[in-house]
Formats: sequence, structure tokens, C-alpha cells
Amino acid sequence: MNEEKDILILAIESSCDETAAAVVRNGREVLSNIIYSQIDLHTLYGGVVPEIASRKHIEKINQVIEKALAEAGVSLQDIDAVGVTYGPGLVGALLVGVAEAKAIAYAAGKPLVGVHHIEGHIAANFIEHRELEPPFLCLVVSGGHTHLVRVRDYGQFDILGRTRDDAAGEAFDKVARAIGLGYPGGPKIDKVAKEGNPDAIQFPRAHVEDAPYDFSFSGVKSAVLNYINGCHMKGESFSQADVAASFQKAVTDVLVGNAMHAVEEFGVDKFAIAGGVAANSALRQAMARACEERGVTFYYPSPIYCTDNAAMIGVAAYYEYRNGTRHGWDLNAVPNLKLGER
Ligand code: KG4
Ligand code: ZN
Repeated sequence: MNEEKDILILAIESSCDETAAAVVRNGREVLSNIIYSQIDLHTLYGGVVPEIASRKHIEKINQVIEKALAEAGVSLQDIDAVGVTYGPGLVGALLVGVAEAKAIAYAAGKPLVGVHHIEGHIAANFIEHRELEPPFLCLVVSGGHTHLVRVRDYGQFDILGRTRDDAAGEAFDKVARAIGLGYPGGPKIDKVAKEGNPDAIQFPRAHVEDAPYDFSFSGVKSAVLNYINGCHMKGESFSQADVAASFQKAVTDVLVGNAMHAVEEFGVDKFAIAGGVAANSALRQAMARACEERGVTFYYPSPIYCTDNAAMIGVAAYYEYRNGTRHGWDLNAVPNLKLGER
């Protein structure tokens, strides 16, 4: 093993509101992971403004890449390939990363490897769990996606279920706004919920008929909005903490329920979570318990690798690179890229 040459990937991520670059060695070791978060900028507007995101990416991307190389102590010549998220995401935001990656790879004479953003989220689990290898099941829960995925091998996926409406993170963000917590809602609900009673209010747990692995979060979101409106109409106040905790419990119950159904059905012994919502403390606890009860090993990334970052893209790009994936100079941003497409 040690005689093999190290493979260094420079990775770039700009699909939403984080401008990020990282250097990853051999798909598992993060040499640098630089993230410029635009959250403060978008907080003013209560959500991500695509035009502002693209402009900020342009402003920051060179700086972030230079820092990633410097912190890793490598130059462009040491890099074996440039990996970049080319979808899904905001088209203008993705374009900045893709154009940058193409320019760097072309100028330095390095191969270009386009990466699916969700493949990156899943791959985040490989960073801190060196022993983790496919096959396993992974629940990807982020601001834009809710997917239950069977990871058959590196870069090979079956989507077992997905959301029919809102993504889990989107529901967190909308409910947080409704109860006055502001943007981004996930971390704020997580924090406030710790002071609340998760059984105070019974919000619905939606199941999609004949699709046991699909999700629907628009019902629970509406139920929270109705509950708040009802309180306003009656001139009553409501407990922000109880609403946050009860909403979080309703979402968590469904995520755990569907995931464990799949774990049992497919007889796997490894289960992972990924994406921004995977940073949620209640979800991590509930999943850990459910996995333990079933004798299944539970994997989850540190919060910094749950939310958008380029290290996870570097890991995914490494396995794609090893599988022979190379993209041409005509690589474009694909805002609705499907998982498994190349
Ligand atoms: O993966 P990510 O950074 O971006 C996308 O690919 O969408 O996920 C962002 C989402 C946001 O909706 C945010 O509110 C949610 O992840 N999130 C959380 C937590 N931290 C971030 N949701 C619940 N609890 C958290 N602790
Ligand atoms: Zn993401």
C-alpha cells in the first residue's frame, strides 16, 4: 500500500452559499478545508439570494483556493486532479466553481473531475471513519435534498426514497422563520428545542402511501403554521421551545422510521447520515439509538463535514478519479443533475 503514490485532489464547492476549497490526500485525509460562508449576507433577506451568492463566489473563490493550497503546503503542480461540484445547485453559483476548476485544471495540465453534490455529502463519512467502505445505506438530509440511498460501491448508488415536497432542511428553515428564529433555521431550532418538550404538541408524521422510503414534510410545516395562527387568533402566546422541540421530533421520527425500515428490509449492518440536517443533535441521538437496537453500526460526520464543504467533494472526486471519471473542458453546471449521472 505504502509504495503506491499519494493522490492529491484540489476540490472546489460553490453550489449554494458556501465558497469552499480543500486539498484531500488519498480520498481520506483532509490536508486543508477552507470555507467562506455567506450566511451573514443572506440572513438579511431570510434566505439565499442566488444573484448575491454568485457574485460573492466570484469575489472569494481565488482567495479560498489559494488558502487551501497554502494550508495544505502544496502547489498546483503537486495536485493530481481538480474536483468540482457541477450539480445539483444554483446554476449561477455552480458556474463560478466549474469555470474556476476548468481554468485551473487547464492551466496546470491536470485532469478535471466533476462531482455530484450529494455524492460529496455521502463521501463526507469516509473522512473520519477510515474503516467505512460500501456497501451501506445513507440518509442524505440537507437544505435542498432528502434522499435515502443505497451505496452499492464507490460512486454507485440506488435511490430508495426521496422527499415528495420540501427537503428536511427546508422545513427546518421555514418553521424557524415562522416561529421567529430567523435564518438559517436548522441550527437555531436544534438549540432552542433543547429547552422544550418534544411531546407538547402532536404534529403529524406523514407517510407516503405505497412508497415506504419516500418523505413528505409540507404537512408538518403547515401544521406548525396552523398551530401558530391558531394561537395568534386566540390571543394566546406559544412556547417557541415547545414548538421547535415538537416539530423536530415529528421530523426525526419519520426520518428514523423510514431509514430503519430500509435497514431491516435490505439487511445492512452499516448506516450513515449526511448533509446539513445530519448535524442535528436530536436526529443523531435518535439514529444512534435506533441503530444500536438493531446491531447496526452508525456513522455520521462532524458538523463541519455535514454542512457544505469542499473536503467531501475532494473525497468523492478521489473515488471518481480512481474509477476513471474525467470531464472535458466543456463541463457545464447542471442545476438538476441526477445522482449517478456522469
Ligand atoms: O448541506 P447543506 O449545508 O446545504 C445543502 O446542500 O442544502 O444543508 C443546509 C441545511 C439548512 O437547511 C440548515 O438549516 C440545515 O441544513 N441544518 C440543520 C442543522 N444545521 C444545518 N438542520 C437541523 N439541525 C441542525 N443542527
Ligand atoms: Zn449540501
